[in-house]
Amino acid sequence: MADSDSAVAGLLQTQLTGVLEAQAREMLPRGVFDYYAGGSETETTLREAPLAWHRWRLRPRMLSGVAAPNLATTLLGTPVASPIGVPPWALQRMAHPDGELATADACARTGTLMTVSTTATVPLGEVAAVAPQSPKWFQLYQVHGPAYTDDLVRRCAGAGYRALVLTVDLPVLGRRLRDLANDFQLPEGLVMANHPDQADVQADAELPGPAAGGSGVSVRRLDQALDSADKTPPWTYADVEHFAGLTDLPVVVKGVLRGDDAVRCLEAGASAVWVSTHGGRQVDRAVSSAVALVDVVSSVSDHAEVYVDGGIRSGTDALVALALGARAVFCGRPVIWGLVTGGADGVVDVLSRLRVELAHSMTLCGVASVERVSRDLVTT
Ligand SMILES: Cc1cc2nc3c(=O)[nH]c(=O)nc-3n(C[C@H](O)[C@H](O)[C@H](O)COP(=O)(O)O)c2cc1C
Repeated sequence: MADSDSAVAGLLQTQLTGVLEAQAREMLPRGVFDYYAGGSETETTLREAPLAWHRWRLRPRMLSGVAAPNLATTLLGTPVASPIGVPPWALQRMAHPDGELATADACARTGTLMTVSTTATVPLGEVAAVAPQSPKWFQLYQVHGPAYTDDLVRRCAGAGYRALVLTVDLPVLGRRLRDLANDFQLPEGLVMANHPDQADVQADAELPGPAAGGSGVSVRRLDQALDSADKTPPWTYADVEHFAGLTDLPVVVKGVLRGDDAVRCLEAGASAVWVSTHGGRQVDRAVSSAVALVDVVSSVSDHAEVYVDGGIRSGTDALVALALGARAVFCGRPVIWGLVTGGADGVVDVLSRLRVELAHSMTLCGVASVERVSRDLVTT
């Protein structure tokens, strides 16, 4: 545990997240904090996400003799220390100078699966090189046209990533009113490191609005960095098929909120689906992940692994998600606040606490291993 956090030792993760978020708010420029914390439009989906996990009640088993539950599991065949992973999140060097390198270090130290964003501020190869044996997935957006995007896929396979995560809930950027009010832009000196450099961008007059500036920054605004619909049509199931055929890596489709969509993703060649509302940043008033998970799991049945994120703030939230059929959960903002407030140590602390809480909840509920978490553990 990082020294700076000793004052909050013993707090539940849910409380800790609030403490860390308050510290992060003090430490970060307003625009950066709002970018990390905010959601789209009325932020209804953002607000409802944690509450939706709280609606479920546990049905613990007594006299089970469980003392030290086993959290180890596999994700698409890769062993991980626990079913709690780190989702892709953009622009990590705004949170801490070490950015994605610190998150990768923390994940390696805790045996946690890390998903690296296309919009990372460290090149995908450099993140992969941090503890290369530690499993990482690469998350893909459409960037700078299909040829460049395909090349990113080949590069991530070559760099040792174990799966390709297609984020499909971003045909356009959600209307994030805080960012619009703040005119949020990538701070000077940071780059979206997996994007084409300034020279490439200037050579392509079709890419909207490259920012000027001598820092090597190609674009400063997320809406400019991601392909706009007038440049490249938004992805369809044909693109899922395309990427599944382009790489030997398993393809995970992230951002699915309906059972019928999940089934079509699998038919198109995906190996797994990831239920997500993008942290409440895309479709405002979208159904909560906790609700969508039930629909997706019942449609997919045992045919594929299903993951979930959105509002997971404690080990008990994670246990509820596992009971509802998720193979793994991913935890976004608490990890962000950990990175802001304590760098790699801060992320280690958040991930370790989540894991301790999950083990604690499983012990109290009499569940010996994550494989043994069953649907009858929860009720409404
Ligand atoms: C600041 C921020 C940046 C994000 N960037 C990405 C991204 O680049 N790619 C992606 O697929 N999802 C991105 N997400 C969504 C996360 O992967 C994840 O779905 C979400 O954070 C989970 O919700 P939670 O923060 O409530 O745990 C981002 C989320 C946040 C908060």
